[in-house]
Amino acid sequence: MSMFGRRKIKKVAEKEHIISKEVPFAVEEAYKSLRTNLIFSLPEESSKVIEVTSSLQKEGKSVTAINLAISLSKNGAKVILLDCDLRLPTVARKLRIEQKPGLTNLLFGMNKMHEVINHHISGVDVIPAGDLPPNPSEVLGSQNMKTAIDHLAQHYDYVILDTPPVGVVSDAVILSKYTSGVMLVVRTGRTTLENVKDAVDTLKLANANVLGFVMTDADEKKQYYDKYGYSYKQKKG
Ligand SMILES: Nc1ncnc2c1ncn2[C@@H]1O[C@H](COP(=O)(O)OP(=O)(O)OP(=O)(O)O)[C@@H](O)[C@H]1O
Ligand SMILES: [Mg+2]
Repeated sequence: MSMFGRRKIKKVAEKEHIISKEVPFAVEEAYKSLRTNLIFSLPEESSKVIEVTSSLQKEGKSVTAINLAISLSKNGAKVILLDCDLRLPTVARKLRIEQKPGLTNLLFGMNKMHEVINHHISGVDVIPAGDLPPNPSEVLGSQNMKTAIDHLAQHYDYVILDTPPVGVVSDAVILSKYTSGVMLVVRTGRTTLENVKDAVDTLKLANANVLGFVMTDADEKKQYYDKYGYSYKQKKG
């Protein structure tokens, strides 16, 4: 297969996971129930800054963060999504917006807040990663980052943070102190119990509020048949 062919297939596959008119109904429904569960698990009085992370790479963090943001926004909330993966950012590419200016440009005083906010067609406001710094952990743990999150929390119902994996770098753990809760993505058939335990322990050591787990890459077909079988049995009985 040619390089071009491979890239094209990957692009289409990735696009299908982001909530849009083309995405299957069941997928949008799954993110709706995630939204509901999230709303119920959040402490009521706190600001709603939610970090999405996972133990390992490529578990579906960014897709989960994006779809959660879109789903909350479709429910009428004012939502902003920040790409806090300053190592391998993907939010801009997935949403087809420019990657800069973004978060780092804001934090370094090169741009104003309104210049880095992208009003995405989905209804979600997005701050892409921006220029990649040599010291992401320090940038994310900075006072300027805290100030930016606090400011956004005052103007939005939800601030969603997409982050790198806990088991690889400390960025997500550092960021967790500025959030109301952390959502842990677990990829079915890939993430081991040990991986999940390690991630939870690391986050808890930093006093993070682990809200719950999101399973990605679940077998849709199997779920479909299970559900179908169940309703079929009910009808008979
Ligand atoms: N719920 C899902 N079911 C099936 N595939 C998914 C799901 N969510 C994401 N994917 C796919 O998994 C791949 C990785 O997704 P994504 O980029 O969101 O992972 P990530 O954890 O953010 O990766 P990274 O560690 O590089 O930041 C993508 O190809 C994406 O389309
Ligand atoms: Mg990612």
